[in-house]
Amino acid sequence: MTNPDAVATRPAFEWLGPCPLSNTLRLPAEAVRLLALNDVSESTLRTPDVAEWLADPATRVVGGGSNVVFVTPRVPQAVRIDAADWRVTRSGDDWVDLSVEAGLGLDALVRETAARGWFGLEALAEIPGTVGAAPMQNVGAYGTEIADVTRWVEVWDRRERRIECLAPADCEFRYRGSRFKREAGRWMILRVGLRLATRAPGDWPPVGYPGVGEAVGEWSRRTGRAPAAITPGEYAEVITTIRRAKLPDWRSGWPGSAGSFFHNPVVSVETAERLARRWPEMPRFPVADGMKIPAGWLIEAAGLKGHRDGPVGVSSRHALVLEHHGGASGEVFQRFAEFVRRRVREETGIDLAIEPECVTL
Ligand code: EPU
Repeated sequence: MTNPDAVATRPAFEWLGPCPLSNTLRLPAEAVRLLALNDVSESTLRTPDVAEWLADPATRVVGGGSNVVFVTPRVPQAVRIDAADWRVTRSGDDWVDLSVEAGLGLDALVRETAARGWFGLEALAEIPGTVGAAPMQNVGAYGTEIADVTRWVEVWDRRERRIECLAPADCEFRYRGSRFKREAGRWMILRVGLRLATRAPGDWPPVGYPGVGEAVGEWSRRTGRAPAAITPGEYAEVITTIRRAKLPDWRSGWPGSAGSFFHNPVVSVETAERLARRWPEMPRFPVADGMKIPAGWLIEAAGLKGHRDGPVGVSSRHALVLEHHGGASGEVFQRFAEFVRRRVREETGIDLAIEPECVTL
């Protein structure tokens, strides 16, 4: 008989492999040898075998696999943070500070905090991936970026072999990017510090993003409650409905996808005007350095929305989403992505940048 009081303790780290690497595109992928970290304290990371593994540039940091294309299926050396606890470290009149370990799923954290009535993460509901991966590409949706609530990011400096705690200014957050992405290979994110509000902010609920105002209005009519009365948990549900209408289920089933496959490009005002002469209805948004054009619109304008080529294709619900319907190799998938880029370039003159990381070892 097992002792009900016994708490199963996991070792601080484990060597695994070969083992499959999950990825939301559902391409074949495995790590030949994988270091799984259940603990991210300095003493564990300084263990000689662990420190050596992390210092080796050949070791790839893997997470939830939601923003990666395994072009080649074998990763010889990998590390994954499985530590997934979170706790409140401080609180004030109208805020709480959280410390979250990198291995926790971002969506799980969104649900937990929204259910407690805390404000700040609800617009990020239903995004796949881990909390540790979120600052890498400054995950964002519906007007919120993870940078907006980030107080600090604790990292392992793989080169200097030490823990550092970076303030937001040192993370160099920008649209879909950060210092961690720019200096890939140097940092492994261990914990993220977030500050959430425990009272509704003045402009609650956020309805500026196209489609969100309508969805909140619909919620209000259905429930008979004022839009301002929507709780963070209910707002997260509204966002979930919007996302599920556009994006394949990242948890299971087919097709696989990596969410938005390309960045929304920023082009010069002249380029935007040239395109608008041909497509007056083209959506475009002024930003600091030019005009942002939705990549999904450009792909649709190139005639590719819903285009299918055997096991791969462009989603018929959202043209920015490339889909894997099963049976494709990473190389086949990558060739298809390059085909989409080429067609958009030929049709519009704009060169789209691929958002996920491509593994080509
Ligand atoms: N559009 C089309 N055809 C399509 C799809 C989109 O013309 O098939 C045009 C429409 O004009 C639409 C516009 O593109 O209004 C914008 O579409 P959407 O609101 O879906 O946003 P997005 O720019 O395509 C970005 C993020 C998403 C995020 C949403 C909401 C990027 C690369 N993607 O998509 O992030 O959820 O905004 O904030 O910035 C992800 O990164 O995986 C992701 C899903």
